[in-house]
Amino acid sequence: MTWSRRRFLGEASVAAGVASVWGCAPEASQDTSGSDRERTHLALGTERRTLQAPGPMVPPVPAILLTIHGAEGDPDEISVLWTFVVNGDPPQIGVSAASEHLARRLLEVHTEFVLNVPTASMVTAFDTVDMNSGRVADKFALAGLTRGRALSVDAPTVEEAPIHCECRTIGSLEVPPMRKIFIAEVIATTAVEGAVDDAGRLIVPRVPFFGMMAGSGEHYTMGERVGNIGMTVGRTDIKY
Ligand SMILES: Cc1cc2nc3c(=O)[nH]c(=O)nc-3n(C[C@H](O)[C@H](O)[C@H](O)COP(=O)(O)O)c2cc1C
Repeated sequence: MTWSRRRFLGEASVAAGVASVWGCAPEASQDTSGSDRERTHLALGTERRTLQAPGPMVPPVPAILLTIHGAEGDPDEISVLWTFVVNGDPPQIGVSAASEHLARRLLEVHTEFVLNVPTASMVTAFDTVDMNSGRVADKFALAGLTRGRALSVDAPTVEEAPIHCECRTIGSLEVPPMRKIFIAEVIATTAVEGAVDDAGRLIVPRVPFFGMMAGSGEHYTMGERVGNIGMTVGRTDIKY
């Protein structure tokens, strides 16, 4: 029988689910790694304060290099944009382009682009891309990155990146005061050998990707696997 997530939520005890996620269910205390996590959680303290300034203080957002053709006569563009998953199936992804950046105008002209997932070893090249403008130089050359060609869309790639999501824009949304969100369908995903298993799942420990922290400007690797969707009911087959 195929169960939807909604159905499972309706049938399981929500209280038990919440309790085991927070490490206070009887089963959780028998799990050593769960207890370690519980101790870490308690070490944070319980008093809460409002920070002086509000911020999008969510865990690090995956570092992504967007590649897209340049304007006529200009080099191809490579840029850093906040990126987020919109939907798993059909695969849809969103990027946020600031009005002052070349990528925004290019995303309005070209409907196809690639999201290249860099590894932590590429962080210097990544920062070089961020600290330079395509208006003054070819950022591929500056960052020492190799320009490739996407297989299914008309856009350049960063060959060193182990994963390429080849995208086609399906919609956009102006976000005042200075952003435009572009939503795209992932037309094709390619990965280098060894990065994914036979089922097409990313083998995370083999691909040391990293994330960017809004508000502090720091980059972090993602650390270890701590669980999976449906772990509280013994499910390993759910993905979005
Ligand atoms: C953490 C981080 C997040 C960024 N997010 C965005 C973004 O969402 N949209 C954007 O247009 N630029 C973003 N940037 C900045 C651009 O990547 C960068 O300044 C750009 O490459 C400048 O080149 P350009 O003049 O060719 O546009 C971000 C940079 C960093 C380090």
